[in-house]
Amino acid sequence: MVDKKDDKIWNTKVSCPSNIALIKYWGKKETQIPLTPSISFTLSECKTITSLDIYPKSEANTQISFTLEENENPLFSEKILNYFKSIKNLLPWILDYDYIIHSKNTFPHSAGIASSASSFGALAFALAQYHINLYPKVSNQIHFASFVSELARLGSGSASRSIFPSLSLWGKTIYHTQSSDSHAICINEYHELFETYQDTILIVDSGIKKISSTKGHQLMENHTYRDVRIKNANNRINELLEVLEKGNLDKFCEIVEADALELHALMMTSHPSFILLQPNTLKIAQEIQDFRKKTKIPVCFTIDAGPNIHVLYPKEFSDKVKFFINDTLKPYYFEYICDQIGHGANLI
Ligand code: DP6
Repeated sequence: MVDKKDDKIWNTKVSCPSNIALIKYWGKKETQIPLTPSISFTLSECKTITSLDIYPKSEANTQISFTLEENENPLFSEKILNYFKSIKNLLPWILDYDYIIHSKNTFPHSAGIASSASSFGALAFALAQYHINLYPKVSNQIHFASFVSELARLGSGSASRSIFPSLSLWGKTIYHTQSSDSHAICINEYHELFETYQDTILIVDSGIKKISSTKGHQLMENHTYRDVRIKNANNRINELLEVLEKGNLDKFCEIVEADALELHALMMTSHPSFILLQPNTLKIAQEIQDFRKKTKIPVCFTIDAGPNIHVLYPKEFSDKVKFFINDTLKPYYFEYICDQIGHGANLI
């Protein structure tokens, strides 16, 4: 616990959004190296605001000392402590100070949106601000973003993608020369249709997940379909990169839904097996596919490690899709959050 003192040497306040994966990261190797590449939309409204205060280390204290002002969950404190130890190589000064971290999400816990992406993204971005203050020569714009992404990845894999605006790719793949396992990159080549893409998150169940993503990743180690997953994810990355560039929305819907359903198929066929989809998740998925067929509006869904469902569509169809959500889909969710593609991490 850090005492509030007057000798604060640094303060920064940042914001980092969550993201929604279109091709999922599921399974990892040592030190947060992903089993497959993944691609995500960076969100806009669902974000974490973090303020970081840095103090001289109190002499009596040889341990890292920090106070989390908003989140007193002991599990989270332990996670941050381990995180600080794990980034010693990138931030050699990390153990030399005391910290007060004040962190707040703009989305309710009940949304079931993974807060680890935005919270580790924000913390990494805040720590990196102090680092460039100490080592200004290290940074040009691109290197700095890769550095923050690598720092974020060590806290939570999906956080590596939240740093960048719009669309991000994490994980080495032969289909993109700049791709890397250690940090995400920004996808610059995409059709203007995606600039204002919408994500309406339907909350089917606000209950706590039955399994953490970290445990789920572990179950990929000896999974029967491990090799098939690696092959499929890589092929879809190849297809999706082209679709993003050309703006072929029918193909976009097909790829994104296939990958979300495969994620859940992998969960259902792991040992132990687990089912996160709920009857209403499936109802919504079917209704969306029927609506797409009937109206030719390119609306599709994706689902993370939980029962809630993200409805993705181009902005020009907002009125019709919102009507469909408020009308046909109404019996199957209890609230929704409107989000859209966003700009990545920034200073406040
Ligand atoms: C289903 O990034 O939460 O959302 O690296 O263990 O923190 P850790 O896992 P995490 O896993 C995210 C899994 C996912 C898919 C995705 O976001 O790509």
